Amino acid sequence: MSPQPRAAVGARLSRVDGRHKVTGQALYAAEHDVDGAAHAVTVDASIGRGRITAIDTRAALAHPGVLHVISHRNAPTLPYRDNTASNNPPGHRLRVFQDDKVLFHGQPVAVVIATTLEAAQHGASLVKISYTAEKPATDLTEAEPDKPTNYTRGDAEAALRTADVRLGLIYRTARNHHNPMEPHATIARWNGHRLTVWDKTQWVVGTQTELAAVFGLPLASVRVISPFVGGGFGSGLRCWPHTVVAALAARVAKRPVKLVLSRRQMYFSNGFRPSYEYRLQLGSNRRGRLTAMAHEMDAETSSYETFTEGVMQPGQMLYSTPNVSQAYRTVPLDVNTPIWMRGPGFATASYVIESAMDELADKLGIDPIELRRRNEPDLDESSKLPFSTRRLRECYTIGAREFGWHRRDPKPRSRREGNWLIGMGMAAGVYDTVRVTAQARIRLNADGTAVVEAASSDMGPGTYTSQTQVAADALGLTVPTVTVRLGDSLFPPTPPHGGSMTMASVGSAVLDGCNQVRRQAITLAIADRESPLHGADTDDIVVQGGRLHVKNNPARGETYRALLARNGHAHLEALGTFTGPDGKQRYSFYAYNATFAEVAVDAELGLVRVRRMLGVYDAGRIISPKLAESQAIGGIVGGIGTALLEHTATDHRDGRIVNANLADYLVPVNADVPDVKVIYLDGEDHEADPLGVKGLGEVVHVGVAPAIANAVFNATGRRIRQLPITADALL
Ligand code: MOS
Repeated sequence: MSPQPRAAVGARLSRVDGRHKVTGQALYAAEHDVDGAAHAVTVDASIGRGRITAIDTRAALAHPGVLHVISHRNAPTLPYRDNTASNNPPGHRLRVFQDDKVLFHGQPVAVVIATTLEAAQHGASLVKISYTAEKPATDLTEAEPDKPTNYTRGDAEAALRTADVRLGLIYRTARNHHNPMEPHATIARWNGHRLTVWDKTQWVVGTQTELAAVFGLPLASVRVISPFVGGGFGSGLRCWPHTVVAALAARVAKRPVKLVLSRRQMYFSNGFRPSYEYRLQLGSNRRGRLTAMAHEMDAETSSYETFTEGVMQPGQMLYSTPNVSQAYRTVPLDVNTPIWMRGPGFATASYVIESAMDELADKLGIDPIELRRRNEPDLDESSKLPFSTRRLRECYTIGAREFGWHRRDPKPRSRREGNWLIGMGMAAGVYDTVRVTAQARIRLNADGTAVVEAASSDMGPGTYTSQTQVAADALGLTVPTVTVRLGDSLFPPTPPHGGSMTMASVGSAVLDGCNQVRRQAITLAIADRESPLHGADTDDIVVQGGRLHVKNNPARGETYRALLARNGHAHLEALGTFTGPDGKQRYSFYAYNATFAEVAVDAELGLVRVRRMLGVYDAGRIISPKLAESQAIGGIVGGIGTALLEHTATDHRDGRIVNANLADYLVPVNADVPDVKVIYLDGEDHEADPLGVKGLGEVVHVGVAPAIANAVFNATGRRIRQLPITADALL
């Protein structure tokens, strides 16, 4: 078949669902109007570890409107079958209301169901729970780590001993919580043995498999619906206890139940970016060529599941280093299980490595960009594979030019405006190009419109829009004639909507399905004696604006409508499939960036203000430039949060999170976000996937925090080796 003209892909479209969103027609989980829904509010453990000894529900049950109180004392036993088709980390998942154990502060231990939200909330406050409490272990540095996962090449220890320059650095990062605008929420409804849930999730298929496993149901008996997600940074990547609680409550109450987490509860049992202690030793020669890196990473996990993320990869492939050793240890704590959060693992590793490279540059008196250029690898030294595409050098060149890097004085504390110390910093970022098997159903209707269906969520990056663009070009339709439907487990299965894998995976499935449908139409036309295209060559036909025609003779052709009507087809349909890579890969696939920051630090107060940011990205083909730009701005804003503001604070005496609200857990607001510029390199990576995309939701976040930290050093001469960099640390 002839390649299709590009019209929609690459166009600066606004969101196709924008009007729905601003007019309130886009329904989020809690907004679905399910008849007769009762309200559920959980009671959360007020101890950090121990056992429940008594539950007094009398006052709650006596409260008007309260229908039921469920706890381990009266909950039905749930099968909790194993589920490998989910994002559950290895371990024993938290089984809601199945025993008297409290594993972390804030664990749901009971649920009150009432006719109104107010009655459920008040009822929950009336449930009296007695505990025997033990002191929880919630401090990363005070608990016993698990056995490490190791990586070695060469002999880092020996190389460090003989290195011209050797740095031994310890960095610490805070726990970060996802704070999407939409809180997690679930409405559950049973119909006999069939369960339907409206849920905030980034993976309807994962939530479906988990609910089927927990309740012992066939997969087909569970339907998960999630057409719109009000922001997500990873907390929706697995099914959390509250979703099971809602389904359990609906079963006990024998009516639909709605459960919405409060902002406070969003800090309890739906994951977080784990805090790390990351010890890094660097060895280099005088000219700045790295000779060794030794990484030791300790990260939080829960006592019941072992959560890991891609924190080891950057240290293995970002720079050329003959000798590398890594030890990654999870530390089981009395906390709930962490989960991936934007740029998971990579963002943390990049903060450490990119800060250390800046320290090395300063020590050697080499420009930080030049230092990185000197250590640019020719191939992926961990896999020995060539890079499919790696254009980090161009990111540096363009970034330096656009940001005015030459104006940076390498000597810290050399630029001052009144009380403000001004500094510039930069960092490189990298993220895995993840591609996973996905499917999508395409239907071309007799009226010349098309519908695309895939289970994938759209948590905000604009998946409705970008998939519309892909489908419109592959079918040869205009954007308004294509409708994309997402977020329903009845649609063809797709991978988690996270890890920057959606466009490569789901997009390639959409492309495949549309190509199949276009081929069906072309084949039909060629075979049809009444078609002007009868007997034409398949490879000569393109479709534009819903009309098939010969490429070099646009007059010879006809519309889909005419073709389908004459042939008596109500529609043409195909199931598009993308098969993710399996077995041996021939290339190393990553997306890259260079991120630049300029900060002003109040010399007396230690207050850091970001003044300018620039991100330059090698992310493959950009399907939807306006949304990609918005995605990058969001990634940078998130990075400002990680660098300067976000810190989940735990009281280690009882495991309580003390800032579980948006007044005390600081996220960037408009006043914290300066002039942000983003530039995508023009290019495609066709080794990665048929669309040539490399994924961009993560890479735009990775590298932001170290760029800011390095700018703070350049401004002040102070190297703060922990995130967030707060005013008190700088005093
Ligand atoms: Mo994100 S960690 O890709 O939801």
